[in-house]
Amino acid sequence: MCGIYGYLGHRNGVKIALDGLKRIEYRGYDSAGLAAITEGKLEYFKEVGKLSELERLVGDLSSPTVIAHTRWATHGRVTRENAHPQLDESKNIAVVFNGIIENYQLLKEKLQQEGVTFVSETDTEVLPHLIARIYDGDFLKAVQQALLLLHGSYACAILHRDHPNEMIVAAHSCPLVIGMAAQETFVSSDPNALVHHTREVIYLSDGEVAKITLEGVEIFDATLAQISKETEQILHSVEETTKGNFEHYTLKEIFEQPQTIRNAMLSRFFEEYGTVAIDGLHISASDLLSIKRFLIVSCGTSFHAGLVAGYMLEDLAGVPTQVEISSEFRYKNPIVQEGTFVIAISQSGETADTIAAVREIKAKGAKILAVCNVQGSTLAREADNTLFLRAGPEIGVCSTKAFTSQLAVLSLFALLMARTKHMSKLEGQNFLHSLQKLPEQVQRVLDLAPQIEKIAKKYSRYDHFFFLGRRYMYPTALEAALKLKEIAYVNANGYPAGEMKHGPIALIDEECPTVALCADKVTFDKLLSNLMEVKARHGKVIAIAHEGAKGLENTVDEVIYVPDTTDELAPILSTVAAQLFAYYVAKERGAEIDRPRNLAKSVTVE
Ligand code: AGP
Repeated sequence: MCGIYGYLGHRNGVKIALDGLKRIEYRGYDSAGLAAITEGKLEYFKEVGKLSELERLVGDLSSPTVIAHTRWATHGRVTRENAHPQLDESKNIAVVFNGIIENYQLLKEKLQQEGVTFVSETDTEVLPHLIARIYDGDFLKAVQQALLLLHGSYACAILHRDHPNEMIVAAHSCPLVIGMAAQETFVSSDPNALVHHTREVIYLSDGEVAKITLEGVEIFDATLAQISKETEQILHSVEETTKGNFEHYTLKEIFEQPQTIRNAMLSRFFEEYGTVAIDGLHISASDLLSIKRFLIVSCGTSFHAGLVAGYMLEDLAGVPTQVEISSEFRYKNPIVQEGTFVIAISQSGETADTIAAVREIKAKGAKILAVCNVQGSTLAREADNTLFLRAGPEIGVCSTKAFTSQLAVLSLFALLMARTKHMSKLEGQNFLHSLQKLPEQVQRVLDLAPQIEKIAKKYSRYDHFFFLGRRYMYPTALEAALKLKEIAYVNANGYPAGEMKHGPIALIDEECPTVALCADKVTFDKLLSNLMEVKARHGKVIAIAHEGAKGLENTVDEVIYVPDTTDELAPILSTVAAQLFAYYVAKERGAEIDRPRNLAKSVTVE
């Protein structure tokens, strides 16, 4: 996802903006650029590659009015011309942009017919040209009118050479946060890049445009009327956005999980009644009882959390649950029957496919519960209720602590549903007791890191793996496989163990090891048979199993025992072991880990 940063104030904004881009590097990018107004000139620099290239180009430039950008290519190759800022022909207007202009071809053709020369392949370039053609001295009006011509989702920051003490920013279905401090204003697509300057922020909503000057921030709605917006406080601390003593953010976030799972559950349950009370969940017991089915929409790791939640809602609460991949669901003609309750799971709250699916479903009248980690995110603002993970910023591109916190809060919600329907107080208390033991049990899995690292090193040379599991361990296998794909670039295939005999077992040989997620007691014996079938075909097997599992030692090649818990909660403990396995394989293979190639932390484009 592209990153935007802007500064307007009394200090040298160039250094501040470059530092801001470094704080959002984790989101992934392939080029970077910056525009600044200094001594009546609009200077701009851009280059493919890392931020260090841009820093070299910028040298000791100083300016109080700066916009900057990291680009993750969507329209147009990774070239200098396609990097941002994009400018008009007269080089008076500079734009940095995140999102997609869906009608850019039409706009581009019309501008070209009017004689405009384009220099890039990007959709963004239409915007500075449109502003230039409308501009008659009123910078804000020209931007507002140009934006009304765009269809799509975007966040942008814009400078005009003739307005050295002004910056115009706008957002539509893409995050943009404005940070206010004494005599200076910061703009970013990510609150993590502002928190060390100010905690007082405004999140721009869809269609809003802000005019930033040394006097402060004025905000206008889509009808160009000036509006007033509440400022909010960023709650997380600066140290949560640094690596501390860890080599990678990813490892730090794996080791944060005992605390993040504790945070996810903090003051959200009543032991005495064996039930749940979730802050911000304004849903009455009668509303819960009126739910006839659940529909869960999400992507990637969040989809895997949705699959686990689906099993829990059916097993514990007895409510039929449909779990959908957002990018598929949004193109179905979704049948959203009466009594459908939708859960949208998204760590970032900015995943375009999930937001689009939610909008489609809302249009059909369903209520939306967001499970999200970012305050002020698009999804959190559009949902009827939001269950925040409280996991703190997740900087590593591959999701780790957010996943286990998603499972923790979804377990609480499933317990709430179950206790509202038929689960007894004692059963509720027992389930809560298992939940409360998780942080200490996760710590015990983390204590296995040396053993897991040894096994990972031994198997790090393989380029192909199967990850197998049944029932609650099937989504766990999918998630474990995704980790290895993402950070070690290994072809890891998550699969339901019972399906192997229907074809994929043909791929098993001594060069294709299997990681078996065994911690589902209901299906353990069946899984053991599957592992024997794998061994019979010379496949090596690494088992991740619950303490007390019998019969593995003389069947598989390696065993990692994690603490025993209920089947519903087993995905949390097994996943932490799998995260460590993926991390140490990636490290042994010399992979980038925090910022894997081709990936972005939040996929805000289709
Ligand atoms: C997870 O490791 C991946 N980085 C990716 O699959 C991610 O889970 C997916 O893009 C969904 O992101 P979200 O949770 O922010 O919606």
